[in-house]
Amino acid sequence: EQAQKGGYDHFMLKEIYEQPRALRDTVHPRISDGLPSFEMDDVPEGFFKRFEKISIVACGTAMHAGMLGKALIEKLARIPVETDIASEFRYRNPIMDKTTLVIVISQSGETADTLAALRLAKQHGVTTLAIVNVTGSSIAREADYIIHTYAGPEIAVASTKAYSVQLSVMYMIAIKMALAKQEITTNQARELTSSLMHAIETTEKSILLDEQIKAYIKRYENLNDLFFLGRGLDYALGLEGSLKLKEISYIHCEAYAAGELKHGTISLITDGVPVVALATQEILLPKMVSNIREVRSRGADVLLICKKGMRIDRDVYGEKLELPAIDDLFMPIVGVIPLQLIAYHTAVLRGCDVDKPRNLAKSVTVE
Ligand code: G6P
Repeated sequence: EQAQKGGYDHFMLKEIYEQPRALRDTVHPRISDGLPSFEMDDVPEGFFKRFEKISIVACGTAMHAGMLGKALIEKLARIPVETDIASEFRYRNPIMDKTTLVIVISQSGETADTLAALRLAKQHGVTTLAIVNVTGSSIAREADYIIHTYAGPEIAVASTKAYSVQLSVMYMIAIKMALAKQEITTNQARELTSSLMHAIETTEKSILLDEQIKAYIKRYENLNDLFFLGRGLDYALGLEGSLKLKEISYIHCEAYAAGELKHGTISLITDGVPVVALATQEILLPKMVSNIREVRSRGADVLLICKKGMRIDRDVYGEKLELPAIDDLFMPIVGVIPLQLIAYHTAVLRGCDVDKPRNLAKSVTVE
């Protein structure tokens, strides 16, 4: 097992560090003439023109990649997207017809709820597309179309590199669909594709924040609660950061849409409560800063995660972690890595079994 860890203390850390490679392996073979192409996946040209509605179904971390997928597809392609937790999808009699595309996302391809949701969609005669990491898995065998992610084997129970590659596929689908629906020009699609490739290369820089994060989180050793705050893409990202921390460090944690804080959660913010504030979106920055001030004025211990070069008053935060600056739309790709590292180092510090957290399974095959 030590050999398999390749010199890292845990599989999770190894897998966090493997993300630039996993992203390249997943995306590069699917770029043709500067544009995303799913030819190698046997997804026919013109496929994405057919649909009027998308339904994304998944569990856990894969669901969080799906939530970002919704934001990306709606923004670029202007097609309505629903997201459903697989175990909810089945029992709510979802509205689907021939113009609906159901996308299921799963690392293992064996999650029972996701598989059941896929089967339900097929029973309704709806086209299904699966984004799956494990070749030959049940979901990969049963879906109408499959896009394989090339994260390689993910051993740690808490998913890291699988999330990143799922997200990269969501970007490619959003660009492809926007082009098919003529919401963007070919040139715009090429620019977006090149921004995606640039974001992938920039993940190397996010990993360099590791030491700074390790030093900062020493204060999290005896924590009971923590809050992630964000708006837009940062809210979806915060949900994943929060899940990672809960899964492996056993700290109670919540991710909140920053504007929603005043409708309840702010009552939980008292002196010294740690808040990780995500502010990677230029257009939302003024509103986000005012939300951070709301928690600061109640004594919150704020770690601000923003984009390098953003001008934010020094009194707004306790400590600042600057992500490499790329286009706002692609910030989640570089932004998730520090959140994974926060969870990892906190769990190690607290003596938790990082790769095999209590009560959790890598693949949940019961409904
Ligand atoms: C389990 C794992 C999670 C994972 C979820 C979905 O709960 O512990 O890390 O996100 O299943 O798994 P899947 O293989 O379908 O992506």
